[in-house]
Amino acid sequence: MGDLLEHRKNPDLALPVWLNMYLPQGAIEAGSRKLDHPYAYSGIEAWSYDLVDELSQFEDFGFYRLLLESSPGRVLDLGCGTGRILLGLKEQGIDVVGLDASPEMLRQCREKLSAKELEAELFEGDMRTFDLGQTFATILIPGFSILLLAEDDDLKSCLQRCYQHLIPGGQLIVSTYFPREFLESGKEGEGLVFRSESESAETEERVRAFQGWSIDRDGQLLKLQNRFQRLDHRGGIIDQEDREMTLRWRSTEIMEKLFEDACFGEISCYGEFDFAEPRADAESIVLVALRPESHP
Ligand SMILES: C[S@@+](CC[C@H](N)C(=O)[O-])C[C@H]1O[C@@H](n2cnc3c(N)ncnc32)[C@H](O)[C@@H]1O
Repeated sequence: MGDLLEHRKNPDLALPVWLNMYLPQGAIEAGSRKLDHPYAYSGIEAWSYDLVDELSQFEDFGFYRLLLESSPGRVLDLGCGTGRILLGLKEQGIDVVGLDASPEMLRQCREKLSAKELEAELFEGDMRTFDLGQTFATILIPGFSILLLAEDDDLKSCLQRCYQHLIPGGQLIVSTYFPREFLESGKEGEGLVFRSESESAETEERVRAFQGWSIDRDGQLLKLQNRFQRLDHRGGIIDQEDREMTLRWRSTEIMEKLFEDACFGEISCYGEFDFAEPRADAESIVLVALRPESHP
């Protein structure tokens, strides 16, 4: 699987853009479900992360901010990426630390912090195995990064690491996603189609994204085939990368069971970043699990 996730220079780099937009559906390689390496964002995917900014539509920051009030103290942002959430928390004076597997995402996070004359400890690490020798009042996994832990063993390891890094009574906040739009499309997959184009205000460079997908309903796996093109200001392709991302969705019941198995106590569930129980048709769900005051 690790090899599959490596950048692949695409042989049809010279194809005209209109042809790239409607490539026939390529077989998305099945691969193993176990990730040898974390899915660390890299290359154009990392470079363009803030430019594309797909997650801001969820308006999740205010929701997390309110949840933090119930457990004041230090926060660990797991899979912090370029600091989409971490920076805002830091600006509000929250003592927050970040961890991510991607040096490229962390570098951007560092640059953004320093541009705002802020400081935060940032660790390069894997959310399945990290050991920081510190404890936190809250551990936050925003941006649906938990879906990247496709194997149950990966998720179990992550929950166990989180438990060990929480103070008694501390909270673990996990955002998760049910890919309803794909599941209810009536299709089992689709070839690459144009998804978005974004431009950097500073350099006028552009990134164009294409996406194909396939779904394994039994395995609860959504495989995304992403193509990123970096364009110059005249629209010429400078670089292109293809990456495959495997996302595993799990029902709320399964997630709760995994939390319980990891010795978490009270678990709360919220839908669509609102302080309400998730509706039956909810897509984004946040689970908040408490480490019991006394060890069970
Ligand atoms: C969807 S992005 C979310 C970034 C950020 N939390 C946000 O909300 O914008 C997923 C992030 O998780 C990181 N990541 C993926 N697998 C990881 C792992 N096993 N351990 C640590 N970070 C991981 C990626 O490098 C990427 O920065």
